[in-house]
Amino acid sequence: QAFFKPILNAAPPSPTKRHSKISVIGAGNVGMAIAQTILTQDLADELVLVDAKPDKLRGEMLDLQHAAAFLPRTKIHASTDYSVTVGSDLCIVTAGARQIAGESRLNLLQRNVSLFRSIIPDLVRYSPDTILLIVSNPVDVLTYVAWKLSAFPSNRVIGSGTNLDSSRFRILIADHLDVNAQDVQAYIVGEHGDSSVALWSSISIGGVPVLSFLKSQQIAYEKETLENIHKEVIEGAYEVIRLKGYTSWAIGYSVASLVRSILRDQRKIHPVSVIAKGFYGIDGGQVFLSLPAQLGRGGVLGVTNVHLTEDEAQRLRNSATTILEVQAQLGV
Ligand code: NAI
Ligand code: LAC
Repeated sequence: QAFFKPILNAAPPSPTKRHSKISVIGAGNVGMAIAQTILTQDLADELVLVDAKPDKLRGEMLDLQHAAAFLPRTKIHASTDYSVTVGSDLCIVTAGARQIAGESRLNLLQRNVSLFRSIIPDLVRYSPDTILLIVSNPVDVLTYVAWKLSAFPSNRVIGSGTNLDSSRFRILIADHLDVNAQDVQAYIVGEHGDSSVALWSSISIGGVPVLSFLKSQQIAYEKETLENIHKEVIEGAYEVIRLKGYTSWAIGYSVASLVRSILRDQRKIHPVSVIAKGFYGIDGGQVFLSLPAQLGRGGVLGVTNVHLTEDEAQRLRNSATTILEVQAQLGV
């Protein structure tokens, strides 16, 4: 006897809305922060966790399932077997080694590339139409590796890139000018790392371009102040890692904003790691770097033609050179 009786003259149920299945690969600090924001923001109908540690994986799954009474209904599965990811709309890859205090993201390269050589083909096998969202570091090079190993079209391989750095940049500017970070439009582009580029010339607050506003108000600003804010962005992750051992909450919210733009087809612009060859004079090879890109259900829908000063464009090309030099050693 079903729990529910149909009401009289009810119409047959309409076809259910498109089912969204997300797989998170790596149930560590970052993977679980992402999983938690996906659940609280109701971004998926089905959430799958994959990790190499079966007990930790099952523990994390059960712990999330026990929160069901407080969350929107989401089916949660977990397995060390990648077949559990079958038919994923989006695969978020956070598996891999993380930096220890003082270590650069690029130092993680070899360890994480070898992991990707097994993870990416497994994901592609079970979800040939998925979008890959890469978070593991060094995220720009690993996004390139995922693109090569998956043989996906470039619009379906995205790195979380400087979406997180730009959030750090916005909060520092907001604090400096005593405004709300959500009213600060500012991009960090290039490498998610030590060679990132702050686009000072295109910062606006409430639609007012900052630098020209300061000039028009004869408000002196030292270039040094601006450079120090960018340095704080670059140092941000190192400081958190030194203090708590890893970063997780900010990347969790950053990735959830990308998930929403992709799966809800928001056509929103985010600075994320995309194939940058051909933009701003980057022509030394196939390199993934963060540029302001429009994201929707098809992944990367396009890259905005944001104005860069010659100095900013040159710094971006330098960032590309850094990544290409690292990539050249990979043989991928
Ligand atoms: P973690 O050590 O807490 O978690 C990594 C997880 O990957 C572990 O649970 C491990 O068992 C799992 N794993 C290892 N091999 C695997 C495999 N073959 N298949 C599935 N799972 C596997 O590390 P955490 O803190 O979560 O960081 C993960 C990665 O995310 C690191 O590379 C870190 O640098 C990166 N990260 C990237 C950020 C970004 O802005 N792009 C921000 C924060 C972290
Ligand atoms: C970050 C590092 C870990 O939090 O990529 O930016």
